[in-house]
Amino acid sequence: MGSHLCDRLLKDGHDILCVDNFYTGSKVNISHLHSNLNFELLRHDVTFPLYVEVDQIYNLACPASPIHYQRDPVQTTKTSVHGAINLLGLAKRLKARIFQASTSEVYGDPVIHPQPECYWGKVNPIGPRSCYDEGKRCAETLFFDYHRQHNLDIKVVRLFNTYGPRMHPNDGRVVSNFIVQAIRNVDITIYGSGEQTRSFCYVDDMIEGFVRMMGTEPGFTGPVNLGNPGEFTMLELAEKVLKLVGSKSKLVYLSLPVDDPKQRKPDISLAQEKLLWLPTVDLDDGLKETVCYFRTLLAHK
Ligand SMILES: NC(=O)c1ccc[n+]([C@@H]2O[C@H](COP(=O)([O-])OP(=O)(O)OC[C@H]3O[C@@H](n4cnc5c(N)ncnc54)[C@H](O)[C@@H]3O)[C@@H](O)[C@H]2O)c1
Repeated sequence: MGSHLCDRLLKDGHDILCVDNFYTGSKVNISHLHSNLNFELLRHDVTFPLYVEVDQIYNLACPASPIHYQRDPVQTTKTSVHGAINLLGLAKRLKARIFQASTSEVYGDPVIHPQPECYWGKVNPIGPRSCYDEGKRCAETLFFDYHRQHNLDIKVVRLFNTYGPRMHPNDGRVVSNFIVQAIRNVDITIYGSGEQTRSFCYVDDMIEGFVRMMGTEPGFTGPVNLGNPGEFTMLELAEKVLKLVGSKSKLVYLSLPVDDPKQRKPDISLAQEKLLWLPTVDLDDGLKETVCYFRTLLAHK
């Protein structure tokens, strides 16, 4: 998502310092930006302090797919928590506005559906997903404490599942998984019965939400849910992908991962009211773009 945000901010006339340790990110996703004089790249791990001069900070640093964030769970928590402390410290010194990409995972396996921002969530603090969920929850706590204690200008959004071109082909997220399996004509892996639901937001819509949130008046902190409220079962998603790709893949059923939420759907009334934001790309159109990206990517592998 960071590479799409760089594209958008450059288009809007900003100077960008892109900071990444490339734990899950790929240099290929920003290779088209190197010749742009308004773009600079710094390889840096946000768990260490950062001394730069900027006037706005977007914090997106964190592996987002379960396969990646569970590979080194201690580093995942460090990235969320130490990363937040370091970037908040930087924002405090610079008096800069700072944005946090939080997540619907702060709601855990929700008992309220759809999830409004006032819902505190149902999160397992000691499970295999906790490094991500609790790390992001603690990062939110830090953002709000810096706001209350140091009057920092914070903007917190909670992203629901987002997909689109430039996703990693092996990150185990359901959209990339299904598309890659369908293009390769191998079995499509459905966890559980496939009746669990998710909402899928196309990346361009999400980036529009980021920019609108960053442009809100001082004092409006969020958290604000950003996501597409269209709700689909995994079986419905698989059918759409199979049809779009024209694949011969068959569905196979595997057991559900631990603490896998049964349903997830954002209540986006606050984003509608405060950001005048609504997702505009429907799932079929977004999947078409994503399939096209993966076809090109896999053809060159
Ligand atoms: N994609 C989604 O559905 C989704 C949903 C909720 C929240 N989010 C959040 O949005 C942000 C971006 O997600 P994404 O889907 O683009 O994931 P991603 O894994 O593609 O991107 C994360 C980026 O952070 C970098 N990174 C990881 N650890 C770092 C560290 N210690 N220092 C510096 N850079 C580091 C990675 O190299 C990568 O470029 C993440 O914070 C994620 O938690 C994403």
